[in-house]
Amino acid sequence: MRLKDKVALISGAARGLKGEVMGIGGAAAWLFAQEGARLVLADLDEERGEATAAQLRASDAEAVFVKLDATNAVDWQHAVSLAVQAFGRLDVLVNSAGTTHSHSVEGLDLQDWNAQMDVHAKSVFLGMKHSVPAMLESGGGSIVNISSMAGIIAVSSAAYAAGKGASRILTKAAALQYAKDGIRVNSVHPGWTDTPLARSTMHHIMTDGSGDTRAQRVPLGRLGRAGEIARAVLFLASDEASYITGAELVIDGGVTAQ
Ligand SMILES: NC(=O)c1ccc[n+]([C@@H]2O[C@H](COP(=O)([O-])OP(=O)(O)OC[C@H]3O[C@@H](n4cnc5c(N)ncnc54)[C@H](O)[C@@H]3O)[C@@H](O)[C@H]2O)c1
Repeated sequence: MRLKDKVALISGAARGLKGEVMGIGGAAAWLFAQEGARLVLADLDEERGEATAAQLRASDAEAVFVKLDATNAVDWQHAVSLAVQAFGRLDVLVNSAGTTHSHSVEGLDLQDWNAQMDVHAKSVFLGMKHSVPAMLESGGGSIVNISSMAGIIAVSSAAYAAGKGASRILTKAAALQYAKDGIRVNSVHPGWTDTPLARSTMHHIMTDGSGDTRAQRVPLGRLGRAGEIARAVLFLASDEASYITGAELVIDGGVTAQ
């Protein structure tokens, strides 16, 4: 029970339906529940989010869903209030909401740039801004921001990479600011991971025979699985990582080591 008595808010947690490929936030929700956490799942996708929360409750977990646009400050205020109302405190925030995008610099219009920065940088800022006061009330906490290997090496589109790079360094700034308060802040940097989001936008990389060489570019020879990322999120969220803050944990099958 590595998260016993802890309350966790996870953005981008709607893709957690049993029997389907899960997203990182959805897979983290199941692992967190197994380890004793009480959960607030937050996502734009109300239908799947509610269904995931219902499945968790049916497995004896304590879980509620709240609709959240992670780029919207009022939604974050509401989500944090709901966590405190429902469970009395907030200990863990996971920022996993995200989208993908594939344009070079000159092919990118300003709207797309803003949308990527909003969903990958502004959302992380807003999530932390509105969760920190509740964590201070709880005597500390742990924030895990899902960045990407694209926040470290430029394997992705320009705007996505810029947003993920912003969330990486924002994590470190927040880690320093709240270290004295017992709030740890770390980032996780997945490589190419088989999730609903990846399938919807990069389905050609999930099937062999398309000529895409992404899996072949991974030293471990395959794509990652959401559960493999979620286990690292669990570690950073839990007290086992009590001396880790401002760190970036790469989980990419070795891609960035090359
Ligand atoms: N899958 C990969 O290969 C990969 C690699 C590196 C980083 N990541 C990052 O990991 C995180 C999770 O990715 P995933 O592939 O597990 O996704 P996923 O399959 O869980 O889908 C993303 C979820 O985020 C939600 N979402 C999108 N925009 C939102 C918003 N504005 N507000 C609230 N919810 C929103 C979607 O509704 C969906 O449920 C993302 O930040 C992504 O950029 C993914």
